[in-house]
Amino acid sequence: MQWLRIKSIEQLLSIEEGKKLHRQLTAFDLTLLGIGCIIGTGIFVLTGTASANYAGPALVVSFLLAGFACGCAALMYAELASMVPVSGSAYTYTYATMGEAAAWIMGWNLILEYAVSAGAVSAGWSGYFVGILKTGGIELPLSLTAVPANGGIMNLPAILISLFVTFLLVLGTRESARFNAILVAIKLVAIFIFLIIAVPNINTDLWEPFMPYGFSGVSTGAALIFFAYIGFDAVSTAAEETKNPNRDVPIGLIASLLICTVLYIVVSATLTGIASYKDLDNAEPLAFALRGIGYNWGSALVATGALAGITTVLLVLIYGQTRIFYAMARDGMLPQGLVKLHPRYKTPHVITIITGIVCAGFAGFMPINEIAELSNIGTLFAFVMVSIGVLIMRSAKPDLHRPFRCPAVWVVGILAVLSCGYLMISLPTLTWERFFIWSVIGILVYAFYGYRKSLLHPKASG
Ligand code: ALA
Repeated sequence: MQWLRIKSIEQLLSIEEGKKLHRQLTAFDLTLLGIGCIIGTGIFVLTGTASANYAGPALVVSFLLAGFACGCAALMYAELASMVPVSGSAYTYTYATMGEAAAWIMGWNLILEYAVSAGAVSAGWSGYFVGILKTGGIELPLSLTAVPANGGIMNLPAILISLFVTFLLVLGTRESARFNAILVAIKLVAIFIFLIIAVPNINTDLWEPFMPYGFSGVSTGAALIFFAYIGFDAVSTAAEETKNPNRDVPIGLIASLLICTVLYIVVSATLTGIASYKDLDNAEPLAFALRGIGYNWGSALVATGALAGITTVLLVLIYGQTRIFYAMARDGMLPQGLVKLHPRYKTPHVITIITGIVCAGFAGFMPINEIAELSNIGTLFAFVMVSIGVLIMRSAKPDLHRPFRCPAVWVVGILAVLSCGYLMISLPTLTWERFFIWSVIGILVYAFYGYRKSLLHPKASG
């Protein structure tokens, strides 16, 4: 039963001095980090596909459904993150609640949420970048902007942006947080410009029929648009670097999620009110809709904001992935050499560079559409596990100090499991098959590596 071994909260909180990350982030930084990771490809690109093919103008309902599931999960994350404010997010919490094997599977699936979606997001960035260059009269050759499956050699801008973001993260968390804050501001301005121009032009006739594909279309739309929410939990991956994690992590998680949900609902209602949902299945629906009502300059501004927005998503996703790998390596589940901090920048540079290269690989050579759905299923799985973990802890250790206690935890926890589970079953069978294969590979890696090398293994030194 060794694979059920649990790391106690005390063990999790007692980290050797040299391996601790530096505490420097505030609640405000965390909220920006959350917004940085949340608003990106989902709102700027996927709203179009989701409304044209699944939800129609009822896209707002899809956003509400997905937002509801994320809201319940966020309260669960907030409770665990405030109890265990160390690196590793869902991976670490699972180690403390369900044991090592489950934690490994969690860490393995978080790769889908972070590294795989970062690859897809870089490719999305590249699409906007190529579009903006084209508007300026510069046309890059297809061979350098498309992956092999789409007739190119590689997606070079996508590779370069992943590597650039990696470089920033090696330089330091504080510096990256500052860069992030500037880009978050730019993308919020872009969204407000969109709303200021578009809201007076809403034609309510376009909201009819409201649910052209019925409620099942709205559910499928919610499962797809869930991608727009991926990332709020990245706030919890920064818990160990937060000055006052008990207070700041719940604030950061919930504030960023609330702000984004409100923006998504307003933007999607406006979008389907200025253009027919049928016309929105393109790579830049917000810019397209503004052009449709005669605002070319507004469209260019929004496209530029989208570029900034997608960059911040990438920054936080790669950051989150490195911190999860860092936590796993520190536990012995990945090679120890990976956890060294850079002597000057104090960042886990080795693991950061490896993650950046892996993301660049995904982004440069894999078709986005084939991997994006996989991110959703991996993330939803993480949310379900975390919610179950909170409920297990409440019944197994009811007296443990919980700086943040989720209100009505049994109701919220069960709703989180059910709503995330519902979104999971709304995803296509092919996604489930890929998810299954990915999980089996993960179990094999654990059996032959993680299990033996874990610091909790009886033969581990100390
Ligand atoms: N939520 C992120 C986005 O929409 C992943 O780009």
